[in-house]
Amino acid sequence: MPEYVGAVDQGTTSTRFMIFDHGGNEIGRHQLEHEQILPKAGWVEHNPVEIWERTASVIQTGLGKSNLQAEDLAALGITNQRETTVIWNKKTGRPYYNAIVWQDTRTDKIASKLERDGHGDTIRHKAGLPPATYFSGGKIKWILDNVDGVREAAENGDAIFGNTDSWLLWNLTGGPRGGVHVTDPTNASRTMLMDLETLDWDDELLAIFDIPRSMLPEIKPSSAPDPYGMTLATGPLGGEVPLTGDLGDQQAATVGQVCFAPGEAKNTYGTGNFMLLNTGTDMVRSKAGLLTTVGYQFGKEKPVYCLEGSIAVTGSAVQWLRDQFGIISGAAQSESLARQVEDNGGMYFVPAFSGLFAPYWRADARGAIVGLSRYNTNAHLARATLESICYQSRDVAEAMEQDSGVKLETLKVDGGVTANQLCMQIQADVLGVPVSRPVVAETTALGAAYAAGLAVGFWKDTDELRQNWNEDQRWEPNWDEEKREAGYAEWKKAVSRTLDWVD
Ligand code: G3P
Repeated sequence: MPEYVGAVDQGTTSTRFMIFDHGGNEIGRHQLEHEQILPKAGWVEHNPVEIWERTASVIQTGLGKSNLQAEDLAALGITNQRETTVIWNKKTGRPYYNAIVWQDTRTDKIASKLERDGHGDTIRHKAGLPPATYFSGGKIKWILDNVDGVREAAENGDAIFGNTDSWLLWNLTGGPRGGVHVTDPTNASRTMLMDLETLDWDDELLAIFDIPRSMLPEIKPSSAPDPYGMTLATGPLGGEVPLTGDLGDQQAATVGQVCFAPGEAKNTYGTGNFMLLNTGTDMVRSKAGLLTTVGYQFGKEKPVYCLEGSIAVTGSAVQWLRDQFGIISGAAQSESLARQVEDNGGMYFVPAFSGLFAPYWRADARGAIVGLSRYNTNAHLARATLESICYQSRDVAEAMEQDSGVKLETLKVDGGVTANQLCMQIQADVLGVPVSRPVVAETTALGAAYAAGLAVGFWKDTDELRQNWNEDQRWEPNWDEEKREAGYAEWKKAVSRTLDWVD
């Protein structure tokens, strides 16, 4: 039996390949960024060909750097930025248009029309999602309606859709020469087109969006004992490896954090934040502004559902301080600058750059910095930015408690921003519960590796995976209740100032 499992993590800003051993330890990795194409305000695109080339390159280099070959990998898992939409020609392999990224808001008119036409409740009930620009359905419709020839090509079976998981699986298994066209329920649950109960594309939802079923991938389990396919021997791995794991990145992180029991939750801090709470095999329909989503489906087992709080702008607010505001030269400096002050000096920053996602779902919101006085400095702004990450997470945690009745006891965290000690301390203070980070912080890639490895018996069961989880650091809350609640009340006031900003 080979000693390792590989995982490709195709994220919003970069693609990485990672190799793990049986203990869940990292053996090797390689990572490359790709271009963020911003044609106009609110539009965000990626070049799918660049993403595939970068994927091939990180696999090749990652294996090479580790002195490993395809034979050393028991299986390969894929995890990906969710919702980002690619439509390509299955005969030529060429995309018809750039990938429309999850952050892109060009489909705002499509989303508001869905609500006006009375389809909102059907989508919420069947797909577990509110009509919003965030999800794939509107993005597919936009390409079908706006790019010449795509609708005809979709109807005659040439144009096919996928999130970046499907795009990579198709390319890894041969592309135009027999590539498989598949996805898993976690990715499909982000399209507004899949029924959460049947885990199949739903005719009523497809009719609402006017999307032909023939262009959609087959939905297979997230951990697939019957592999989606084998990597092509002439491809970047240079050998045949079974492709047996596929999970959207936030669900993969939930698996990597071994949140396998109902009531267990994790929060990933990347460009945005995504908190997922395992609700078991029962789905909880949110009344408080969260999404109901598939957490994972392993083999023939029943699917496990999650409640999700998606926050669009967290780490990217820190990037904004660097790139647009120019008050810091790198992410680490956000911590040293914020440490120059004791508190936020009355300043609150709500980074509603593309409206507000969970739990508000307000496309009409825009960012605001409020509470300013002449006393304030750049250091207060840096502190307010870190606090905004934590307060937005509190908003989502509150909604989770309302929907599920489960009170968070500890918050498991991962992602780039968790390197910021001050931010994690503020998070514990703002939530009033300990925050805990595991040794293997790359939980997204690890989760995809787990899904792939479980399918081929590399790992026996989820209990075995639990033993791989070890705490690296824990932050205990320091604020008293009065301070915590006073700060949160001011944050809510700040949020109210950002609403109704655009028509
Ligand atoms: O829903 C969007 C999410 O999957 C993106 O995650 O880590 O690629 O920014 P990330």
